[in-house]
Amino acid sequence: MSSVTLTNIVKRFENFAAVHKTSLEIPEGAFVTLLGPSGCGKTTTLRMIAGLLDPTEGEIMIKGRRVNDVPIHKRNLGLVFQNYALFPHKTIAENVAFGLKYRGVPKDEAKRRVQDALDLVQLPDVGERYPRQLSGGQQQRIALARAIVIEPDVLLLDEPLSALDANLREDMRVELKRIQERIGVTTIFVTHDQSEALAMSDQIVVMSEGRVEQVGPPEEVYNTPASEFVANFLGASNILDARCTGREADDYIIEAETFGRMQVPVKKAPNLSGEGLAKLVVRAEKLQLASRDRPADGALAVDGTVETVDYQGQAVRYFVRVGARQLQAINMIDERPFPEGAEVSLRLRPRDCAALPVS
Ligand SMILES: Nc1ncnc2c1ncn2[C@@H]1O[C@H](COP(=O)(O)OP(=O)(O)O)[C@@H](O)[C@H]1O
Ligand SMILES: [Mg+2]
Repeated sequence: MSSVTLTNIVKRFENFAAVHKTSLEIPEGAFVTLLGPSGCGKTTTLRMIAGLLDPTEGEIMIKGRRVNDVPIHKRNLGLVFQNYALFPHKTIAENVAFGLKYRGVPKDEAKRRVQDALDLVQLPDVGERYPRQLSGGQQQRIALARAIVIEPDVLLLDEPLSALDANLREDMRVELKRIQERIGVTTIFVTHDQSEALAMSDQIVVMSEGRVEQVGPPEEVYNTPASEFVANFLGASNILDARCTGREADDYIIEAETFGRMQVPVKKAPNLSGEGLAKLVVRAEKLQLASRDRPADGALAVDGTVETVDYQGQAVRYFVRVGARQLQAINMIDERPFPEGAEVSLRLRPRDCAALPVS
């Protein structure tokens, strides 16, 4: 059963369509992430689900009930935003209890549920303190406790980690996922950060300019991007001009710029309908630099010259000139990195490539 369903949702501000005819099904209990660059319509979509904005067209269902005309406080949702400020003059316990009081939950029960929520976010002893006495990360945990204490049907999170510094953000990522799994609440999480989306989600909804580009589990959107936009937004890709010239068993025959003829698994090109123009997607980390005298072991090989070496700690990003093209490769460092100017061989396994139709 799906917990939240959007059907042909449109949101226009004056003449500008921030969300175009979007349909989505969010399964019960899933952690679903709306991912895309700034301005693509993530917050607008979330605010329509929350009831903070009315859709211009389309229908929103939550747990089988049409909610277009149901006000926010009757939708039973938990909300956490980037700067969802706590009430500064209320204690932490009063902050967390706010939604319960509003719902008329008896005092004893409210007290117990507030303590359960504080335990869950691993801040069991801060109930008597005030928000200013907590760090930013702790305040965000309290905002989460306040959202889940009401046992919402759906938890809506809009970039809740983006105000935190990098290390804390990674810890909170794990923490948030743990809490979501523990209580099993359907969660819609908004971020522009691909690594957050890949690490946390059951399903990722990739958005661009008010449209859904692709929906799928993290490995699927990463390994089988449905469009050039998705291939470029998640990870680093080289997109090569190509042509599909036929099919042989489970492979498409692809003629690609730079690498020539190869066989790409049909399952890596689910949107290709057969012969015709195509694009070959080569992930930067699937392109390996090697000395030219090293055997290719069945991989395709082309000669190139290293133009730029971008040292990243455990990996190096290279830009390599091959004829008229510059290709990017991200390789783990096992030996010494190749220096700028090195004459190398680039190695590629066709089964690591994906192919797209040309739209
Ligand atoms: N109240 C508004 N009035 C006019 N335009 C808006 C309003 N809210 C958002 N927009 C526009 O809609 C687009 C999508 O915004 P938003 O949903 O906030 O994007 P995201 O959360 O993905 O960064 C942007 O171009 C933004 O400027
Ligand atoms: Mg936003």
